[in-house]
Amino acid sequence: MAQDDLKRAAAEAALKYVEDNTWLGVGTGSTVDFFIEALAEKRKAFIKGAVSSSERTTKLLKKVGIEVEELNNAGDLSVYIDGADEVTEHGAMIKGGGGALTREKIVAAAARKFVCIADGSKLKPVLGDFPVPIEVIPMARSFVARAIVRLGGYPEWRSGFTTDNGNVILDVHGWTLLNPVEMEAKLNQIPGIVTVGIFAQRGADVILLGEKNGVRTLTPGTF
Ligand code: 5RP
Repeated sequence: MAQDDLKRAAAEAALKYVEDNTWLGVGTGSTVDFFIEALAEKRKAFIKGAVSSSERTTKLLKKVGIEVEELNNAGDLSVYIDGADEVTEHGAMIKGGGGALTREKIVAAAARKFVCIADGSKLKPVLGDFPVPIEVIPMARSFVARAIVRLGGYPEWRSGFTTDNGNVILDVHGWTLLNPVEMEAKLNQIPGIVTVGIFAQRGADVILLGEKNGVRTLTPGTF
């Protein structure tokens, strides 16, 4: 089965977590694109609309006729649905491969439930094969990079890429995240870092994995 079919299967399985008559938080990425397609086809009439995590997602939501609301106006959300670059069975994730990590983390934090949708290859025993994206204020780039080296990481500037918030991304190689909650907290203390692409303090409550025999559901619950 092609990877896109596995992503689509996980995305479609997330429809049952969409709560009627509420604002839905929507993430960013190719798996979420499949989710938006399915939502537009099957459930858009039942929700108030969506709070988006990126310009890319906003554009697609509007294209398929789903109302997009500002988080400031929507208040707390019932559910947030998003993909991941890596996820553990405990619900810790690496996110930000698409560079949308800051708004993703904010919208996720505003939601009661985080549903992670991914193809089965994203499930890992330990996070760290995928480089950890870190969004940084541009003038702090070198300062933050040196701090990361002191923490044993190898930062690589995602050259030519600017986030929706006007910042830059450092992709950090070389970390094996045995304690992702602790590393997320440590990185959050470094001035100049806007958002760390480790989503462990607030991880996924439900993980839907597209696999060749169907969609597997893991329910780590909240941290
Ligand atoms: C974007 C993200 C995405 O959720 C992550 O990169 C997974 O993307 P895809 O669904 O395309 O595999 O964090 O910032």
